[in-house]
Amino acid sequence: MTMSIFNAAAEARDFIFTRLPADATRPRIALILGSGLGAFADRLTSPVMIPFKDIPHFPQATVEGHSGRLVIGDIDGIPVAVMQGRVHGYEGYSPQQVTFPVRVLGALGSSTIIVTNAAGGINKGYRQGQLVVLSDHINLTGSNPLTGPNDERLGLRFFDMSEAYSKRLRGYAHAAAQRVGLDVPEGVYLGVSGPNFETPAEIRAFRTMGADLVGMSTVQEVIVARHMRIEVLGISCVTNMAAGVLDQPLNHEEVIETGEWVKDDFSRLLAAILPMIHTGQVSRAAAED
Ligand code: HPA
Repeated sequence: MTMSIFNAAAEARDFIFTRLPADATRPRIALILGSGLGAFADRLTSPVMIPFKDIPHFPQATVEGHSGRLVIGDIDGIPVAVMQGRVHGYEGYSPQQVTFPVRVLGALGSSTIIVTNAAGGINKGYRQGQLVVLSDHINLTGSNPLTGPNDERLGLRFFDMSEAYSKRLRGYAHAAAQRVGLDVPEGVYLGVSGPNFETPAEIRAFRTMGADLVGMSTVQEVIVARHMRIEVLGISCVTNMAAGVLDQPLNHEEVIETGEWVKDDFSRLLAAILPMIHTGQVSRAAAED
């Protein structure tokens, strides 16, 4: 990208606006749906669907289980922007490309992002199909999307990550989980570059480091979201127990299949969280007036 990220994101935003009805309310809540979890986007009413390939500067998803489009519409009257699929570093994209959609969601006006993913369960108390709210993360991808000159229009050079995953939003997630009758613990997500699944020795090391979950996405997106002062809620679906936890090999089919059978729980949880975030945004905006 020779153009600045700021200008490229503004171009993508302007293009997206041309696709929306003139009277559309701008989404203040964005979601990124991980592997096998894309079905939630099908619940949007009056959806405007924009394939990633149509959006200027957007990276293209290449992995099965990630359909690769931006869907803007309403859930129970709440306007949301949903990334149905995402791209990963292992596809050959730079950290800046991987996180470009987050820049665009921010440029569209989102002040909250719900980042979801499929993850391996390191914590032995977890079970396959469990949903976990992220309390924090460890970036072991080996790279950072903010490497290079800082653009002050996007955010600060050095910024705080001590509450990367908003306590307030985590509270909403727990209240919503209780309301829909799901057991949703909190956990620390450790991000790796992939594409191979980990070795059992790596998983033991990660457990010692304090990780409960491992996955190949999310951490860079959250770094960029926090750079832009966007509030973040992270939700993992434990699609499999991590390598060596159970005496069985891992495969991508299992990741997708678990997402498939968890999708109803996942949708109910998200649908219960969204009104809480929306109401919180409305009352915060009123307090600022
Ligand atoms: N490891 C890394 N990423 C993953 C896993 C895993 O076990 N499961 C789903 N995404």
